[in-house]
Amino acid sequence: MLVKILMVSSEAMPFAKSGGLGDAVSSLAKALSRLGHDVRILIPRYYFIDRNSLKPLEGAMGVPVGMDEHWTSVYESSLPDSEVPVYFLDYERYYGRSGVYGSSTREEFADNPERFALLSMAAFQLCRKIDWIPDIMHAHDWPTSLVPVYLKTLEKTGDFSRTASVLTIHNLGYQGICAKEHFPFFHLDWALFYGAGFEFRDAINLLKSGITNADCLTTVSPSYSREIQTPTQGFCLDGLLRYRSRDLVGILNGIDTETWNPETDPYLPAVYSADDLSGKAVCKRVLQESFGLRPDPKIPLFGIVTRLTEQKGIAEMFGKGFGALSQVCSNMKVQIAVIGSGDSWCEEEIRVLSLRFPNFKGKIGYDERLAHMIEAGSDFFIMPSRYEPCGLNQMYSLRYGTLPIVHRTGGLADTVENYSQETGEGTGFMFDDLTPQALYNTIGWANWAWYNRQGHIELMRYKAMTRDFAWEKSASEYTALYGRAMAIRKSGIK
Ligand code: ADP
Ligand code: GLC
Repeated sequence: MLVKILMVSSEAMPFAKSGGLGDAVSSLAKALSRLGHDVRILIPRYYFIDRNSLKPLEGAMGVPVGMDEHWTSVYESSLPDSEVPVYFLDYERYYGRSGVYGSSTREEFADNPERFALLSMAAFQLCRKIDWIPDIMHAHDWPTSLVPVYLKTLEKTGDFSRTASVLTIHNLGYQGICAKEHFPFFHLDWALFYGAGFEFRDAINLLKSGITNADCLTTVSPSYSREIQTPTQGFCLDGLLRYRSRDLVGILNGIDTETWNPETDPYLPAVYSADDLSGKAVCKRVLQESFGLRPDPKIPLFGIVTRLTEQKGIAEMFGKGFGALSQVCSNMKVQIAVIGSGDSWCEEEIRVLSLRFPNFKGKIGYDERLAHMIEAGSDFFIMPSRYEPCGLNQMYSLRYGTLPIVHRTGGLADTVENYSQETGEGTGFMFDDLTPQALYNTIGWANWAWYNRQGHIELMRYKAMTRDFAWEKSASEYTALYGRAMAIRKSGIK
C-alpha cells in the first residue's frame, strides 16, 4: 500500500534544527520516499532559510486563524539527494526572526502558540492550494499538535474526511503549555477547550490536545512508549497515555546513514571503516589538537555532544561540587572533550573545568562539524540522560566505533548492549540509577576495559559499527501504522 503523507513539523534538516527532531523528520521522510510513498514536508520559512534558494509558489495563501485571515506565501524546495518536496510557510511577522522556538535556548517566543497554530492550519490550506490531499497528516511534538485537532473538528468532513492523523511524541517533557488567552487564535469553539482535551490546570496544553485527538500515536523508541505510561515518566499525561495505549506504538528512530557515515563523512580529516580503523586514529589526534588536549593515542578520550539541559544528565555530569566529571578528571587517566550549549550555569561550569583540568576541554556552542569530529575522534561517548525518548547521538557513536556510556532508559536501553567482562560481548556501558556515583563508576569501568581488555574494546567496536541503524525497518513499521490510522479514521466516519 502506497500512501500520501504530509509531515508537518517545526524542524527539518538541513533547513532548521534545534535537536534530534529535525534529523528524525527528514530522515524518516527520505526512508518513506524510498519505499515509494508520496511524502512531503511543511515547515516555517524561518528567516535564516534563504528565500533565494527556494522556489515561490504562485499567489498568496489565506490562512484563517484568530479573528481573520492571515495572508502567507509558500516556497518550495526538496530534501537534498531525494525527491521529497519541502514546503516553507512564509509569514514575516511570525517567522522573520532568529531562532526556531526562541532567541536563545533559554527564552521562548511569547507568541509560539500563534506561530505554530498558523503552521498547523496552513497545512490544510497548502494541500488545497496544490490540489493534493494526503492520506496521512503526520504531526510531530507540541508545535503541530493542532493538526490532529483540526482533522477531528474543523476538517472532519469535506476535503480531509478520509485523511488520518498520526502524532509522534519525540519528547514528552515539552508540551506547549500556555495561557487560555491564546485559545481564540486557534479558530475553535470555546467548548473545545474542554471537549478537545486542551484544558490542563486551567491553561492550554497543546500536546495533550494532540494526544487526545490523533488517530494513532507513536514514540521514537519502544521503551519510551512504555515509560511514558508510568507516573514517574509521564509528565502528568500518563493517565491519558494509558487510556490511549491501544493506539500508541513505539517505533525506534533510524539514523541518516549517508550523513553519519565514517566511510564518507566530509567533516573528518580521515575516513575509516569497521575493517580499517587507521583513519579513526587520525581523527583522534586532530580532535585532541583542536581541543588543546595532549595528542596521545593511548589515553582514552571520552566525548560529549549535547544540549545542556536537565534531561541530558548535566547535573550528574557537571554539577558544581558533586558532578562526576571533575572527579573523573582528577582521578583517572582519561581525556574529555565536550561541545554543548544551553543552561548558563552549565556553560559556565564547562568553562571552569576547561581551565582547571588539562585533560578536560569544552567548547560552548552548536557546531555540526565538531559534533562529527567528536563522534569520530573519541573512544567513548558519555550520554547519561535522565530520560531519552530515542537519542541519536548514541547511535551515531555506535556507527563511528565510539562506545557509549549510558543510563538504561528509553532509546538508550533499546540501542546499546551492555558490556560483559566475561565474554567481551556488548556495544557500550550501562548503569541503572542515574547518580553522579553510578556515572563515575561506569566511566571507571570503561576506562578499566580500555587499559586491561583492549581485545574486548576492539570486539565491541566492530559489533557497534556493523549494527544496522538504517531507517528501512522502522519506515516499514510506520507504513503499517499509517494503514491502521486510516482504518481508524474510516471507522470513525461511518
Ligand atoms: P535531543 O534531540 O534530545 O537533543 P538527540 O540525541 O536525539 O537529542 O539529537 C541531538 C542532535 O543534535 C544530534 O544530531 C546532535 O549531534 C545534535 N547536537 C546537540 N548538541 C549539539 C551541539 N552543541 N553541536 C552540534 N550538534 C549538536
Ligand atoms: C527528541 C528526543 C530525542 C530524540 C529526538 C528525535 O529531541 O529528546 O531523544 O532522539 O527527539 O526523535
